[in-house]
Amino acid sequence: MAGLIKGSLLVVISIAAIAIITQRWLDNKSYLFSHDEIAEVAKKAVGMPIDDALANVTAELKIRYPRHILEESEWIFINCGGWMGSFYLLHASITEYVLVFGTAIDTSGHSGRYWATISDTILSGSFRQWKEGTTFSNVHRPGTTVIHEIGEVTAVQWSPNTWMVEYGRGFIPSTLGFALSDTIFGTQDFVLLFRILRIYARAITQELLQGVF
Ligand SMILES: *[C@@H]1O[C@H](CO)[C@@H](O)[C@H](O)[C@H]1NC(C)=O
Repeated sequence: MAGLIKGSLLVVISIAAIAIITQRWLDNKSYLFSHDEIAEVAKKAVGMPIDDALANVTAELKIRYPRHILEESEWIFINCGGWMGSFYLLHASITEYVLVFGTAIDTSGHSGRYWATISDTILSGSFRQWKEGTTFSNVHRPGTTVIHEIGEVTAVQWSPNTWMVEYGRGFIPSTLGFALSDTIFGTQDFVLLFRILRIYARAITQELLQGVF
């Protein structure tokens, strides 16, 4: 019994130590993108039909960050926290990602609680957010940037044809558990699971080869 407690304590202390070291690294490393710059790029595409907006944001980012925007990407369904959307990955590393996200239908659920700060600049539609511990919701409209702080949780709802540009910064692999759990334990759509892992692996490899973590 004493051995079990000692062992468990050791595991907990090790995890905490690794987390603290990782957070210190995240606080001090340099980043390619910033929340402000991605929001600025996204704002130029507000109100465009989604295909045009995607083309505009992609072209704009390719000018600013040559070799850091995926050449081959695709719309991929994603099921998380009870909702269903679609994302188009533009960039991903171990500590950052940029994508266009949205939904053609009305969908809602749990935002996820992340070891990352995520900002969403809304291009079209509406994004309703109900913050933990409150009794009311807020609706965010096109042109607005919504910040989801590290560790925060909200209920989320998107109206049909809501699209946004999303930037995440933090320990990105830690978000995969939430991102994939509805697929693994719910829909069992392993084709989708493969597509999500493949695009993330491709993006991360492209960045690692350029020395970007
Ligand atoms: C994106 O759209 C904006 C607004 O129409 C335009 O000023 C900008 O030049 C476009 N960017 C690219 C790379 O096409």
